[in-house]
Amino acid sequence: MTTVDLPLLPLGRGRDLTTERGVECPGDLPATSDPDLVARARAAKEALGERVFVLGHHYQRDEVIEFADVTGDSFKLAREAAARPEAEFIVFCGVHFMAESADILTGKHQQVILPDLAAGCSMADMARLAQVEDAWDALVEAGVADSVVPVTYMNSSADIKAFVGRHGGTVCTSSNAETALEWAFDQQPDAKVFFFPDQHLGRNTAVLQLGLSLDDCVVWNPLQPNGGLTTEELRDARIILWRGHCSVHGRFSADVVDELRATIPGVQILVHPECTHDVVLKADLVGSTEFIIQTIEAAPSGSAWAIGTELNLVKRLAAAHPDKQIGFLDKNVCYCSTMNRIDLPHFVWAMESLVAGNVVNRIEVDADTEHWANAALQRMLELPGKSHRD
Ligand code: 13P
Ligand code: SF4
Repeated sequence: MTTVDLPLLPLGRGRDLTTERGVECPGDLPATSDPDLVARARAAKEALGERVFVLGHHYQRDEVIEFADVTGDSFKLAREAAARPEAEFIVFCGVHFMAESADILTGKHQQVILPDLAAGCSMADMARLAQVEDAWDALVEAGVADSVVPVTYMNSSADIKAFVGRHGGTVCTSSNAETALEWAFDQQPDAKVFFFPDQHLGRNTAVLQLGLSLDDCVVWNPLQPNGGLTTEELRDARIILWRGHCSVHGRFSADVVDELRATIPGVQILVHPECTHDVVLKADLVGSTEFIIQTIEAAPSGSAWAIGTELNLVKRLAAAHPDKQIGFLDKNVCYCSTMNRIDLPHFVWAMESLVAGNVVNRIEVDADTEHWANAALQRMLELPGKSHRD
C-alpha cells in the first residue's frame, strides 16, 4: 500500500471567498519560492512572543503546522482558543468557520486572524441562513417546528450557529455528535432533530450510535420546494438531515474498502464520520481527526491501516509511524483545497503584519450573531465528555 504520492488535484471547494468578498491580500505577500520563509516565520513568532497564539487544524500543511502552538480537531481548537485569554492575537490556521468560532469564544480584547480569507469550507457554504430560515418556516407550516431541536455541526457559518442558538439548539463536532444528538432528543419526549449541514455525520451518528433506522432520517434539499419532502414525511421523521456534505470525505468509496481488504490481509479501515454511510458501514473504526490520531498512536507495530480523511493528516501519520503500514484510503480523493489555502507565504504575511502593528484578515462576528452563536457553542462545551464510536 502506498500512501503519499498522490497528485494535488483541483477539488470542489465552494465559492472563492476572496473574490466574493472583494478581498485582496494587502501589502506584500512573500513569494512561495522565498528561501527565507521559514526564518521569517520564526522571527515574526519570536518577535510577537506571548502576544500571539497559533492554532493549527490537523488538515493543515506541514509547513504551517510547524509553527502551531497547538494542533487539534475543531473541538479541541475551539476549547484551546477559549482557554487563552492572555493572547492578544489568535492566528487560526484552519478555515473560516473555525476562526469565527474562535472569535466568539475569545474575549473582546483578543483578535482572531485567518491568514487567507479564501480558506472557506464548501460544506459550511451548503447551508445559508436564508435557506435555513425558509426551511424553518416550512416546519412551522407543517406543524412540527415546536418539537424540532436544531443541531449544527461546527462546520457551519456563525449565523447558522446563531440561528440554532436562538431556537434552543446546540453545536456539535465530530468528537461529540453522539452526545449532542442524545442531548437534543432528551429536550422533549417527541423531539425531532434538524441537523445542519452534513447529512453524513448526522446519518452516521443517528443510525450507528443512537440506533435510529434509516427510515427515521429524511433529507432536506434546500434547492427543492418544501425541501423535497411531504408534510407527512416531516411529521414521521425523527431526524431531518440538511443536504450538505464534505467535498473531501464524501469522495471515499465503499468499493475501495473491498479492494483493499482483498489485497492487504488484516488491513484496518479507519475513517472520519463525514464519509458516506456505506463507507462508514464497511469501516472498522470511525471517529474525528483526534480519534484517528490516537488510534494510530496506540496501534501495534506492523499493523496495516487505510485511513479515510484529509491527505495532509494521513501523510503526517505515515511519516510519524514508519513501523506501521499506513495508507490513504482512496487514490481519487485529494487535499482539502481550502484548508491548503493557508500556506507559509500567507502565514508569514499575517505574522509580519502583526509585528508591524497591522492586523490583517481579522475575523469578527457581529454582536447579535455572536451572542446567539455563543449560546449554542456554550451548550456544546457543557455537554458531558463522551466522544467517538469504535
Ligand atoms: P474535525 O476537526 O472535527 O475532525 O473535522 C474535520 C473537518 O472536516 C474539519 O473541517
Ligand atoms: Fe470543509 Fe471538508 Fe475541507 Fe473540512 S475537509 S474544511 S468539512 S471541505
